[in-house]
Amino acid sequence: MGRRRGLLSVILAVGLAGASGLTANATPFSPGAAGAGDPYFPDMGNGGYDVSHYDIKLGFDPKTKAIDATTTIVARATQNLSRFDLDFQGPLKISKLTVNGRAASFKRTGAQELVITPRHGLWRGSKFVVSVTYAGVPQKIDDPALGISGWAATKDGAVALNQPIGAATYYPVNDTTDDKATYTQTITVPTGLTVLGNGEPGRTTTHGKHTTFRWQMNQPMASELSMLAIGNYNVTHGRLADGRQNITAIGKSVDTKAGQGKVFNETTAQIVEWESSVYGRYPFGSTGGVIGDIGVHYALESQGRPVYDQRSSNVSGGLLAHELGHQWFGDSLTPVRWSDIWLNEGFATYSEWLYQEKFKGVPAQKSFEEAYAGEDNWTGKVADPGRDQIFDDLVYTRGAMTLHALRLKIGDKAFFQVLKQWPTTHRHSNVSTQMFIQYVERLTHRDLDGFFQAWVYQPGKPAL
Ligand code: TRP
Ligand code: ZN
Repeated sequence: MGRRRGLLSVILAVGLAGASGLTANATPFSPGAAGAGDPYFPDMGNGGYDVSHYDIKLGFDPKTKAIDATTTIVARATQNLSRFDLDFQGPLKISKLTVNGRAASFKRTGAQELVITPRHGLWRGSKFVVSVTYAGVPQKIDDPALGISGWAATKDGAVALNQPIGAATYYPVNDTTDDKATYTQTITVPTGLTVLGNGEPGRTTTHGKHTTFRWQMNQPMASELSMLAIGNYNVTHGRLADGRQNITAIGKSVDTKAGQGKVFNETTAQIVEWESSVYGRYPFGSTGGVIGDIGVHYALESQGRPVYDQRSSNVSGGLLAHELGHQWFGDSLTPVRWSDIWLNEGFATYSEWLYQEKFKGVPAQKSFEEAYAGEDNWTGKVADPGRDQIFDDLVYTRGAMTLHALRLKIGDKAFFQVLKQWPTTHRHSNVSTQMFIQYVERLTHRDLDGFFQAWVYQPGKPAL
């Protein structure tokens, strides 16, 4: 009996396999993956296509906190797609969705999947355009371990700060670090408010009660680095020595001493120019920053225009050096996996130490010795801290210690070559810890496996 049943199920299985084989022949199209494969954030990003541009047209009403928007996405299929996902989450309601100009069916599943089935399959290599119209009151993410990200209403407007998982709170997006794209943001607000975005400003037009601001990001940007700040701001326009625009803004509610707007703008330029001399040519078309009472309690490296949460306009030079250091480490070179975020935070923290060394007479060696003498940071792994630990001091301070220990090991000459050539070689692309180790080993002709094992792959305090 048991034996016969076994035989029957074998026959059934063969029959099923045959049937699905036939179906596969009948349609060469299959669904794109619902995640991009990050172990810490498995739902983030999607598979089967590659976005080249986001066009976000959005109106915001500070009274109701509601937005209405149309986001248009230009992408290319990387497989024959029967359907594909975007990330989109929260209560926003979709009223219209088209693929290549024709209505497509869609459903929303799980925490953030927007599953889109176009009328016809999309051939691998073909370009397609997705347009999504939606409205509602966006809800920020308040993650117990990672804090606030996404669209957040403020007293006088709103900010969108998207690291690591917030972008999908207000636009449909392939929210993964390794699908960089250019952006156009066209934002309409009540006349009197100001909008800051990534990249370069376009025309600002006022029609009575409404003013539209345009921002254009022409370099490839990871969605986590897209930003918006809407509110009452005093804006200062300056330029870097090479002519690039330097646009800074301070919230009008921030306690500002006379001339602080100018000081913030000039200090930003000074630090970008000094960092360019150490890290190589500045990777983006503009720079700047936003200081506001925005209620997130951290500064953040939005691409080209970092945001500093402050009650007073006295942002320290060290903090500016950190966030502007991210323009190279994090924004131009972006880790594929969130577990490698020390490649951002370690270098940004080391930027603070180099700033102290250059401008404040505090040698990096002293910053290192103080951190090394500390009790903390000897239990986790820098290059795999865990999902809830990506912003821990382990990643920041031990990351910076790793770089200083490397400096001691390979010497200043090779170390500063690494600091300049690593970001130059991998400009505007994605990186990993493995790639960094290989890069340093090739440049120095040394086997550094033991060194990196001790500093980034293993817990425990490395011997010097
Ligand atoms: N990555 C940002 C920086 O160091 C800071 C940041 C973003 C952060 N989200 C956070 C820090 C959450 C603490 C908690 O520039
Ligand atoms: Zn940082």
